[in-house]
Amino acid sequence: MHFRSRPVDSGQDDVHPHLLKTLKTHLRSEYKKPISANSHTLFAAVENIRRLLDLPIILDSGCGTGASTRSLALRYPNALVIGVDKSSHRLALGGIHENLRQESNSLILKMELVDFWRLAVRHSWHLQKHYILYPNPWPKPKLLKRRWHAHPVFPDLLRLGGELELRCNWRIYAEEFRLAINYITPNIANLDEYIAKPPISLFEKKYTESGHILYRCLCALDNLVISTHSSGGPEPVMPVTSLI
Ligand SMILES: C[S@@+](CC[C@H](N)C(=O)[O-])C[C@H]1O[C@@H](n2cnc3c(N)ncnc32)[C@H](O)[C@@H]1O
Repeated sequence: MHFRSRPVDSGQDDVHPHLLKTLKTHLRSEYKKPISANSHTLFAAVENIRRLLDLPIILDSGCGTGASTRSLALRYPNALVIGVDKSSHRLALGGIHENLRQESNSLILKMELVDFWRLAVRHSWHLQKHYILYPNPWPKPKLLKRRWHAHPVFPDLLRLGGELELRCNWRIYAEEFRLAINYITPNIANLDEYIAKPPISLFEKKYTESGHILYRCLCALDNLVISTHSSGGPEPVMPVTSLI
């Protein structure tokens, strides 16, 4: 991509006022959306490979063209790096036309993340590292629930454990992500500005070349305690204001 990208434009100028209410609801209830038969089949194939290789797992959720998955596989030669994206179009841009591609120590698959994360939890996966690079920001306030931290699958995303790293070019998304994690276990997620040297994904490259500020939220999920399906829950421990 050679065009300059515009910064995220949103009617929201701070953390969404309904974020914590939405998160509390998701923590109290189980997400029951059925998992597709295709997802079950594909995940079973991935699980077979994982068991055979028996390596630490690094997940690249929403890997787009798979460029970041390939780059991470080089950086972590002793891990199995798994890239997941639902878009055949984006995967095809990276030369991936099949549902599951194995390349050296990486797997790239076309799959719905909402299914993948839940299946991985059901199979007791524990990640070494989890990258979520430049998720779709859904900047319209009314689309809050499409952002990962306000989606009903969020508790399962966190249950995968490991070190979670979100990168994003919209400060408010990154702040909300950090706030959602710190609401569950105070002070475990940190947020900073990030300089990509060099960029590892297509969007990271595009945003860097366009001069955007990039944000990174980092968190060691092994210290996170999720009280599931309980009634109530603690009150927010962080002020719902700018947290940088
Ligand atoms: C803005 S792009 C970023 C792609 C890549 N991480 C990068 O940095 O270049 C967001 C990606 O997330 C993928 N995505 C969004 N929602 C998804 C879902 N529910 N399941 C799987 N992939 C999803 C999209 O298809 C898209 O490729």
